[in-house]
Amino acid sequence: MKNIFRNPEKSIAAKLIIAIGLVMIIVTFLFWYAIRSKQKQDIMSIALKYGISFMDFAKRSTHSSMLNREREEIQQTLENLSTPVGVEKVTIFNHDGNIKYSSSVEDVGKSIDKTTLACLGCHPKPEESPALLSEPRQWNVYKNQEGFTALRIVSVIPNESSCYTARCHAHAKDQEILGFVEADLSLAILDEALLKQGLALSAYVILFVLAVSTFLGIIIYKIVSKPVQVLVNGMDKVAGGDLNHSVPIKSTDEMGVLAKTFNSMIHDLKAASDQREKWTQMLEKEIAKKTEEIQTTHNNLMQTEKLASLGRMAAGVAHEINNPLTGVVTFAHLLKKRFPADSTEAEDLNVIIEQSDRCSKIIKNLLTFARATPSDKGEVSIHDLLNRTVFMVKNQEKFHHIKFNMNLEDSHPVVYGDATQFQQIFLNMFINAVDAMNGRGNITVATRKVQEDSKNFIEIEFTDEGCGISEENMPKLFEPFFTTKPVGKGTGLGLSVSHGIVKHLGGHLKVKSTYGKGTSFFVRLPMSE
Ligand SMILES: Nc1ncnc2c1ncn2[C@@H]1O[C@H](COP(=O)(O)OP(=O)(O)OP(=O)(O)O)[C@@H](O)[C@H]1O
Ligand SMILES: [Mg+2]
Repeated sequence: MKNIFRNPEKSIAAKLIIAIGLVMIIVTFLFWYAIRSKQKQDIMSIALKYGISFMDFAKRSTHSSMLNREREEIQQTLENLSTPVGVEKVTIFNHDGNIKYSSSVEDVGKSIDKTTLACLGCHPKPEESPALLSEPRQWNVYKNQEGFTALRIVSVIPNESSCYTARCHAHAKDQEILGFVEADLSLAILDEALLKQGLALSAYVILFVLAVSTFLGIIIYKIVSKPVQVLVNGMDKVAGGDLNHSVPIKSTDEMGVLAKTFNSMIHDLKAASDQREKWTQMLEKEIAKKTEEIQTTHNNLMQTEKLASLGRMAAGVAHEINNPLTGVVTFAHLLKKRFPADSTEAEDLNVIIEQSDRCSKIIKNLLTFARATPSDKGEVSIHDLLNRTVFMVKNQEKFHHIKFNMNLEDSHPVVYGDATQFQQIFLNMFINAVDAMNGRGNITVATRKVQEDSKNFIEIEFTDEGCGISEENMPKLFEPFFTTKPVGKGTGLGLSVSHGIVKHLGGHLKVKSTYGKGTSFFVRLPMSE
């Protein structure tokens, strides 16, 4: 709660409490002032009532002594009347202002002060004219020498029949006023009572203001400050990015409605943010996909370009080498006939013939790669060709410890192309598999029909349990002359030639491999409709 008073200009509750507190203080002060005035008024009217009855009492006490002109008696009575606490002085003076009797004996014979109530109560200008006030004043209040409030009352002694018919005949009948009785009464006791009452009232008022302010403060804090603070904290959190935050709804008043609206606003904001996030992710994925596609296309283009130029070069070189090579082989055969079969010369010539054959095989491959050899195209039954190739290789020593698993599809897929080229592809797959398995293990051949871009393809899968292909070698696999085989064993043309043949027919060649476990090649060829 003290937080709200740290920066009161930033808190509605603090402003409300201060404003209500100020209004309460002002209103209570006005009430306090009104009650105090009323108290004073009431006490004065009571004092006046008692003062007047005291005056009556004084007049009655002296009445008979006055009629009998018993001066000493009158003087004594006045002195007696001034003995009770609170009666300061009682004086009787005549219309000229001469003090005839007084409880203060030293005043007897003196003149009264003309500027006091005794004169000014009836005459506005007693020195100049005897004119009377329309409403004479009989009393006034002043501070006595001790600093207490005192009441001065003046009462007329009228000329009554008993006065002018008295034995002494002291007064004429037409004289209206015989004199005045003046009493000074101390209101010290009332002052004290008023002070006590004032103190008690002030204490009550202060307690009341404090109690009401405290209760009001607590109520405003609970009803206004706390819910507003919760909302402000919530907004701070949301502004900081926490869209999962929600404020508790505890009431059905405007604060409750505000909290509910706030929560639903945050909910909408979160939904919009999630949507935006989703779109961003989608966009990012789409961009990544497109970038990959562009990269692949670019790589393919590069590869195609590279292969095309290699092909052109290979075709040129192969043509140039082919003729001299044929000459070398022919002459080597002719020369061999001149030596006995078991002579060292015949053996050397065999090596020449063997290596020249190998060269012509490479050249043949190069020409196929460059698609420079004429192909004999037609409808080829893939299953028949696969079975024939397997049958052929099985009889070779290299494949003696290999088991072939044939999982061929029931139908007889037919592909338009050159059967020799297809066989070349399959053979390379088998030889690569055997090399990878060191001559022992299973080779699985499976076929299946697949659809790609609403076109029918036959997919031939060659799986082995060999050494697999390392991550590093994967991208180089279809590059011409890439080989991991020892010199003289592989030329690195098998897969690039196969890739070229398949691509040319509108299919493709893919590979999946787990290093150390095995490899699967997928040859996808378009089926004849
Ligand atoms: N089934 C396989 N398992 C493991 N590695 C393979 C497999 N098939 C191909 N390779 C790797 O790919 C390389 C390239 O094969 P590719 O058939 O093009 O050439 P090659 O077999 O080395 O030589 P060539 O086929 O011209 O006689 C191989 O040297 C070998 O490292
Ligand atoms: Mg090979």
